[in-house]
Amino acid sequence: MFRIKDMAMPAKVMVTGGAGFIGSHLAEALLRQGIQLTIVDSLDDFYSPSKKLSNLEAVRRQGEFQFFQKDIRDYESMRRIFSATQPDVVIHLAARAGELVARDHTLALAPDVDDDRVASDLHDDASDDFSFAA
Ligand SMILES: NC(=O)c1ccc[n+]([C@@H]2O[C@H](COP(=O)([O-])OP(=O)(O)OC[C@H]3O[C@@H](n4cnc5c(N)ncnc54)[C@H](O)[C@@H]3O)[C@@H](O)[C@H]2O)c1
Repeated sequence: MFRIKDMAMPAKVMVTGGAGFIGSHLAEALLRQGIQLTIVDSLDDFYSPSKKLSNLEAVRRQGEFQFFQKDIRDYESMRRIFSATQPDVVIHLAARAGELVARDHTLALAPDVDDDRVASDLHDDASDDFSFAA
């Protein structure tokens, strides 16, 4: 079985969207493998925030982690979080996934956010690796 521990091991991982379906399961797996974990999630109301809080409780049962309720489009907050947590790897799962959003891009992105710039600046600043989901 593939284990993250088999890789040249990042000690500190940030998961954006870590309160969501995939992110929270990933977060549980990372904690079980002894990773120092930071989660950034806005707990948006695209679907029930209480479901996301319950996901976070399940993550907490696996171990301690740092949680920041922030919108990843808040560039200055993200800079501060990167500076404070210094992740080796970022796994970027924050999204409003689904067909509805795909049809209306105004729901997904603020007009003045340049995703590529955010990713490349944060990568340069603090992180050795940056993984995107589809
Ligand atoms: N669920 C699947 O079957 C599936 C399959 C393939 C790919 N994916 C991709 O994986 C990613 C995560 O999917 P999921 O099913 O876990 O979705 P999800 O909606 O359960 O989780 C996404 C999380 O991102 C957070 N979020 C949204 N916008 C944010 C923002 N601006 N700042 C901070 N947090 C924000 C939400 O609060 C939520 O907790 C998406 O990119 C999705 O397209 C999902």
